[in-house]
Amino acid sequence: MQLQDSLGRPLRDLRISITDRCNFRCTYCMPRENFGPEHVFLEKEEILSYEEMASVVASLIPLGLAKVRITGGEPLLRRDLSVFIAMLRELDSELDIALTTNAVLLERHAESLFKSGLNRITVSLDAIDTDLFQAITDSRNTPEEIFRGIETAQKIGLPVKINCVLKKGVNESQIIPLTQACIDRKITVRFIEFMDVGTTNNWNLDSVMSGEEVRQVLRDHFGPLVPKASAHPSDVARLWSLVDGSMIGFIESVTKPFCGDCSRARLSAHGSIYTCLFSEQGFDLRSILRFGANTEDIATVIRDIWTHRGDRYSELRTQLKETRQPVEMSFIGG
Ligand code: GTP
Ligand code: 5AD
Ligand code: SF4
Ligand code: SF4
Repeated sequence: MQLQDSLGRPLRDLRISITDRCNFRCTYCMPRENFGPEHVFLEKEEILSYEEMASVVASLIPLGLAKVRITGGEPLLRRDLSVFIAMLRELDSELDIALTTNAVLLERHAESLFKSGLNRITVSLDAIDTDLFQAITDSRNTPEEIFRGIETAQKIGLPVKINCVLKKGVNESQIIPLTQACIDRKITVRFIEFMDVGTTNNWNLDSVMSGEEVRQVLRDHFGPLVPKASAHPSDVARLWSLVDGSMIGFIESVTKPFCGDCSRARLSAHGSIYTCLFSEQGFDLRSILRFGANTEDIATVIRDIWTHRGDRYSELRTQLKETRQPVEMSFIGG
């Protein structure tokens, strides 16, 4: 029988963070004050090997796992990612394997990723104005480099989506030009409400641009928007279409939480399972993996964790204590 948590939700998706490092220092995710030269990243031996991660995936496939999303930090910083993708593909030819990346290194790696069995890519891009892009990412890279990576992936046949996190007073000026750039390139853009993840991103409700506010900006410029059905109930994005058929996604976890259908587990780079993006603590799997556990042993442990799961943080956000210390976004992969 398919695994269900205490609220009847299956375990369908696994998000794997393969590294806690990133080549950007986005101000809302890894601000340089907190992630400067003195920050201690995980050591190589602390991070799960690709074989260890693949055995977690192998243990979950019989329990109903259908999708794996590879995240970071920035996943393309880890060597031989395509070797890992090939291992996952070998486990299950039907598994949906996706990657979330900032795309700085995509031009170089797109072909090998595709050949190894990657199905699709989501690129994080919060601005197409160069100065604003560099200010948000605290880097010297440019939106042109990101689009070069995207074009390479598209040419090979890898579907690409764009994620844009909006923060009021920072990048709402990018809504129209970014949408236009995506329409021109036949890419679905998804606008994300800024979330209160981690402890270092100075979140407050006033800085959240709601999905409805974004839709109003889009209607004023492009005309009517029509809501569309999601491909799957557990999808985080709600899709709307413009008159010309272009699809735009909205990830409204602050104003329209979607915990009711949440089928996502997260595996951190150091081998802990988190049952919610806002968890304060994970369940250590690395010790049992390194103690010689086989896939059945791992499945037994995860089955126990999942059946006790009752997380619905986004629905409870306003009722919970402000002293919570949720895990950092760059550590758990979003
Ligand atoms: P697909 O639907 O498969 O394309 O992927 P995705 O949208 O689930 O993954 P992606 O990495 O593109 O994440 C998009 C945004 O949704 C990011 O800001 C994530 O942090 C956020 N997100 C993903 N899963 C959850 C979740 O379970 N809860 C909350 N609150 N946010 C989530
Ligand atoms: N709120 C919403 N989305 C965020 N991301 C990173 N930090 C936040 C936040 N505080 C996004 C990244 C990436 C995805 C995995 O999560 O931009 O696209
Ligand atoms: Fe890196 Fe993504 Fe965080 Fe930016 S949002 S610092 S690209 S992990
Ligand atoms: Fe799932 Fe937690 Fe996000 Fe709700 S807040 S959708 S339970 S990860």
